[in-house]
Amino acid sequence: MLKSDRLTCYDHLYIGGSWVAPEDGGFLESIDPSTGRPWARVAFGGPGDIDRAVAAARAALNGPWGRMPGHERAALLRKFADLYAQRAADLAVLETTDSGRALRESRADIGGHTYGYHWWASLADKHSGRTIPFDDSVHAFTTRVPVGVVGAITPWNVPLMAAAWKLGPALAAGCTVVLKPAEQTPVTSLELGKLFDEAGFPPGVVNIVPGYGKDGAGERLVTHPGVDKIAFTGEGATAKVILRAGADTMKRFTFELGGKSPHIIFADADLEQALNAATNSAWTLCGQSCALGSRVLVQRPIYDQVVAEFARRAAQVRVGPPLDEATHMGPQAHEEQLAKTLSYIDIGRADGAELVTGGGRLSGGVHGDGYFVQPTVFANVSNEMRIAREEIFGPVAALIPFDDEEQAIAIANDTAYGLTAGLWTQDIGRGHRVSSRIRAGMVWVNTYRFIRWSTPYGGFKGSGWGRENGIEALDSYLETRTTVVSTTGRFPNAYAN
Ligand code: NAI
Ligand code: MG
Repeated sequence: MLKSDRLTCYDHLYIGGSWVAPEDGGFLESIDPSTGRPWARVAFGGPGDIDRAVAAARAALNGPWGRMPGHERAALLRKFADLYAQRAADLAVLETTDSGRALRESRADIGGHTYGYHWWASLADKHSGRTIPFDDSVHAFTTRVPVGVVGAITPWNVPLMAAAWKLGPALAAGCTVVLKPAEQTPVTSLELGKLFDEAGFPPGVVNIVPGYGKDGAGERLVTHPGVDKIAFTGEGATAKVILRAGADTMKRFTFELGGKSPHIIFADADLEQALNAATNSAWTLCGQSCALGSRVLVQRPIYDQVVAEFARRAAQVRVGPPLDEATHMGPQAHEEQLAKTLSYIDIGRADGAELVTGGGRLSGGVHGDGYFVQPTVFANVSNEMRIAREEIFGPVAALIPFDDEEQAIAIANDTAYGLTAGLWTQDIGRGHRVSSRIRAGMVWVNTYRFIRWSTPYGGFKGSGWGRENGIEALDSYLETRTTVVSTTGRFPNAYAN
């Protein structure tokens, strides 16, 4: 990192264990979304740079990394995890500067990644196969082998978390990686290169190439014949483009594509706890989380009370400079997202939802030209409205009333998505009954957004393919090879008579 008179400079890509200038990419200015002004100059890669990175990743796979026993890979990952812990506080500041996420949130999030990397390290030597009983003429068994070179394409909302969720299982499985962070927030991903270097990873195991998606580094990664798997987090529409583009080379895919999660509050809930969770899960990350409880389903007898509490608590959210320790909520991560959120607020109004509080951009004073929006609450939302059906990715809660359990389940499942869901009730039977009928990859009962490296995370329906985290994630970075050894060595001549 070099500080020019104005911008912090990240002038190199991390390819094959070296910091290299872009060959056919260039430089982009990364914007600090709390000011709307550039704060860093960052190298980005073009297709040629991706080709170099893929070649380095392939060479590492065919070289020392591919032959390294699992326990040695584990040791390297642990070393990396320890270095990550030492740098976590700085990484949180950088991630907050680049993405606008409030420092208190970045710190808590990034502080946990080190445990994630340690957990993945602990799995690096444990993916054994099994023996298959047949008869005594053969010995059949499976081995788990790395899927190969992985292209990891990450979004701008949680760059380090998204990277950890892919790098952890990929490296534990023995894969090599080309990481392409989002063009809006490339800085912290590049920082990881220093840590992999310092930990002593062989060159080319991890390569980091920021770049654009369509017509850029992202697209090249997806079409490159030397890439075996794409691990993607982002928008569903992008995933479909990637799926088609990757078809020619028969890529493996995992997709994590966001949601429109129901957060159901029954009248018998511990309301104080439910409100703590429901308000936080609507506004955390300035609304830019795939696990957001953006559809708050509230049982009629407590509906008005919940609406009033949401409004009261919205007024308590300190929206401001994200590096300020006191700030709860920073700006939207980039200008396009700000425009998207504001347009959805207009759509909500036009569709007849009742805007209870918020609904506007904040500017001037501490907000300056930053991309700040007010925490926003819509009441009397029907599940047919666009603000209840489409992912906004802004701090906009849509409060939908319901009468009974059946109706709550029907509304919860009436969505194209199926990533997460939450429900609050003090009736344990109801907790099990309702959770078992929700079509989502993660259901929380009397809690929300409990997401750890050990808990499989991913979507049903339009929310994606496969799982990140948990042992299930490791499976998606491994192929199964079945070996059959004859105990006799005899093979009949099919053409003898
Ligand atoms: P996006 O899906 O376009 O971008 C995500 C990543 O994909 C970035 O690294 C981007 O460079 C890359 N990419 C884009 N087009 C590509 C292509 N053709 N080939 C290869 N890579 C490509 O997401 P975008 O447009 O930045 O955000 C739009 C909306 O998507 C958000 O408003 C939100 O609703 C949703 N989203 C969901 C996320 C999640 O956590 N599931 C994260 C980010 C966005
Ligand atoms: Mg896009």
